[in-house]
Amino acid sequence: MTAYQPDDLIRTDIRAYLAQHEQKSLLRFITCGSVDDGKSTLIGRLLYDSKQIFEDQLTALEADSKRVGTQGQAIDFALLVDGLAAEREQGITIDVAYRFFATEKRKFIVADTPGHEQYTRNMVTGASTADLAVILVDARKGVLTQTRRHSFLAHLLGVRNIVLAINKMDLVHYDRAVFDRIRLAYRAFASEIGVTDFKAIPVSGLNGDNIAAPTQNMAWYEGPTLIEHLETVPVDADREARGPFRLPVQWVNRPNLDFRGFAGTIAAGAVRPGDAVRIVPSGRTTTVDRIVTFDGDLNEARAGQSVTVTLAEEVDCSRGDVIAAAGDPPETADQFEATIVWMADEPMLPGRAYVLQLGTQTASATLRTPKYQVNVNTLEQTAARTLELNAIGVATLALDRPIVFEPYEKSRELGGFILIDKGTNATVAAGMIRFALRRAANVHRQHLDVTRERRAGLKNQRPAVLWFTGLSGAGKSTIANLVETKLARMNRHTFLLDGDNVRHGLNRDLGFTDADRVENIRRVGEVARLMTDAGLIVLTAFISPFRAERDLVRQLMAPGEFVEVHVDTTLAAAEARDVKGLYAKARGGQLANFTGIDSPYEAPEAPDLHVDTATESAEDAAERIVRWLLEREEA
Ligand code: ADX
Repeated sequence: MTAYQPDDLIRTDIRAYLAQHEQKSLLRFITCGSVDDGKSTLIGRLLYDSKQIFEDQLTALEADSKRVGTQGQAIDFALLVDGLAAEREQGITIDVAYRFFATEKRKFIVADTPGHEQYTRNMVTGASTADLAVILVDARKGVLTQTRRHSFLAHLLGVRNIVLAINKMDLVHYDRAVFDRIRLAYRAFASEIGVTDFKAIPVSGLNGDNIAAPTQNMAWYEGPTLIEHLETVPVDADREARGPFRLPVQWVNRPNLDFRGFAGTIAAGAVRPGDAVRIVPSGRTTTVDRIVTFDGDLNEARAGQSVTVTLAEEVDCSRGDVIAAAGDPPETADQFEATIVWMADEPMLPGRAYVLQLGTQTASATLRTPKYQVNVNTLEQTAARTLELNAIGVATLALDRPIVFEPYEKSRELGGFILIDKGTNATVAAGMIRFALRRAANVHRQHLDVTRERRAGLKNQRPAVLWFTGLSGAGKSTIANLVETKLARMNRHTFLLDGDNVRHGLNRDLGFTDADRVENIRRVGEVARLMTDAGLIVLTAFISPFRAERDLVRQLMAPGEFVEVHVDTTLAAAEARDVKGLYAKARGGQLANFTGIDSPYEAPEAPDLHVDTATESAEDAAERIVRWLLEREEA
C-alpha cells in the first residue's frame, strides 16, 4: 500500500461509524479460493450488497493504528488490521487484505488471501483469527485439490465454521443436481479431515443469487443466503465466554502507589468482582476487586473484552502471567508437541534457538527434527528433516522455561504461537500446541554433593571454554593445540575438542547441511558445558559458522566462562594454503556445502579475542591467548 496520510476528517468518520456498530457482535471470516472461482466478485458483492465500501478508509486506519498503538479508541482500529497479533507487533506484513463491512445485525472483518499453494503462510495468517471460512468452489469444476487444501488449513487453524459456497450456479443453469453432487463429494472429504459440519450454499456472486437475497433462480434451495448465515452463525467470542476465565496479563498499570491494575484481553470465560482467581504460574490465589475500563467500572467482563482488573491482595503478577479461574487454572510446561507452519524463505533449523511468542509470553525455543510433514494437497504424512517455506509439520518444541498454555484446540490465545529469528527479528513460523510432553515433568535434576566449584578448586584453576571459530584451514586447530600444550606445561587440566575428531565419534552421524552444523555445535556446547562443570579448561576448534549457535553455547555456560576466539583469515588465504585439499574439491564441485564457497560463515561481531592470521603467527597468537587467560584467572 502507498504511504497514504489519513486526514482527520476520515478518521472522525470512521470513529463515528464504529461507535454506531459497537453493540453488534463481530464475525471474522476468511475467503478461500482463487480468482478463477470468482472470489473477488463474491467479496465485492458482499460489500456492495451491504452498502459498505471502505477501501480508502481502511488504508487510513492501517496507517493510523500503527501510530496510535493499542490503547483507548485504537483497540477497535486494531481489529480491522489484525493478523497474528504478535506478528503485527513485530511490524512484519504478510500480505493479507482485511476488509470491514456491517449489516443490520452484525459487523464483519473478511480476510482475503490468495489461494495458491505458495501463499499458504498468508492463508494461515488470515485463518488464525477467523471464526468462519468461506470455501469457494466453481460449480463447473467441483471439489478440487485446492478446495481440500483450503479446508484442511482452515480446520487446522481452528476455524470452526465452514461454508462451502458453490459459486457460478448461473453457469450450470442453476441445476440442483450439480449442487447436490458437489455437496456430497465435499462431505465425504470433510469427514476424513474431521470437519463434521459445514453449510453448503449455492450462489452466483456475479448475479447476487443467494448472497444477500434469496433467488427465484434456485427455488429448490431452502437454506439461508450467505449473508443470513454469516449474520447468525455463532462467533468464537460467544463460545469462548463459556470456558473458564483466563486473562493473559499484557501489562501492569501502576500510575501511583494506590492503584495496581492488570491489563489485557480476556482470552476465555467471564469475570466479576469477588471472583476467586489464581495467578499462573506462581499459583497464588486471591479475588478480583474491580474491573476497570475506559468508560468506568464493570460488573462483568467476558472473552474478547480488553480490561484492567485489580486484585484484593498485593500479589506478584506481571506481563506474561495469566490470571485464571482459581478452581480451573491452565497448565504450565516447557516441552510440547506442536504443529508448525514454516513461513520463512530460510528452512527451519532443528536445534536452533528461536524466540517463541505465545500471547504475552516469550521464551527461547528449539525445535527437533520434524516427526513428519503433511502434504497439504494429499494430506499424506511424509518423513522430513526440516520444514521449508509453507511446509506444515509436527515437531517437538523445547523451551528454556515453562510457559502457561492450553492445547490450541481448546484455546487459540493460549495454544497458538509464533517463532521469531533472533538475528533478523523476522517471524519464521506459526505454531499450534497439540499437547505438553510430560517427560520433562518426570525427569528431575539430581542434587550432587561435589559442586563444580569444588571440582575446579581441586584442580586449582578457573574453568573456561576457549571457543575457536573461523573458516576451514584458518588455523583454529593449530592455535588451539599450541595453547593446550602451553597450559599443560603449567599444570592446567584441559581438553581440546576438535571438529575433525568429534566428527569421527560423537557426531559421526552429522554432515555439513545447515541443520547438521547446528546440531554439531549444540552437542559440542553441551559437552563443553559438562567439561567446565568437571572443572576443565576446554578448547574447541570448530568452524561453528552461525552466530545463533555460538550465542546459544555462550548462554549455556556460566557467566564469563565462554571466551570466543575468532581466528580470522581471508577466504583467499585459507584457500591458498588448502592444507586438506578440500577447497580444491569444493571449487571442483566434488564437495557441496563448503564453508566460504557455497555455505555461509557469519563472523563474530565482538569476539573476546581476535587473531588476524595475516599479521600474527600461530605461536604468537597462542602465547597471547595464554597470557590473557592467566590474567583472567588472577582477576
Ligand atoms: S562446523 O561447521 O559444523 O562447525 P566442523 O568444524 O565440525 O564444522 O568441521 C569442519 C571440518 O570438516 C573442516 O575443517 C573440514 O576438514 C571438514 N569438512 C568436510 N566437509 C566440509 C564442508 N562441506 N564444509 C566445511 N568443512 C568440511
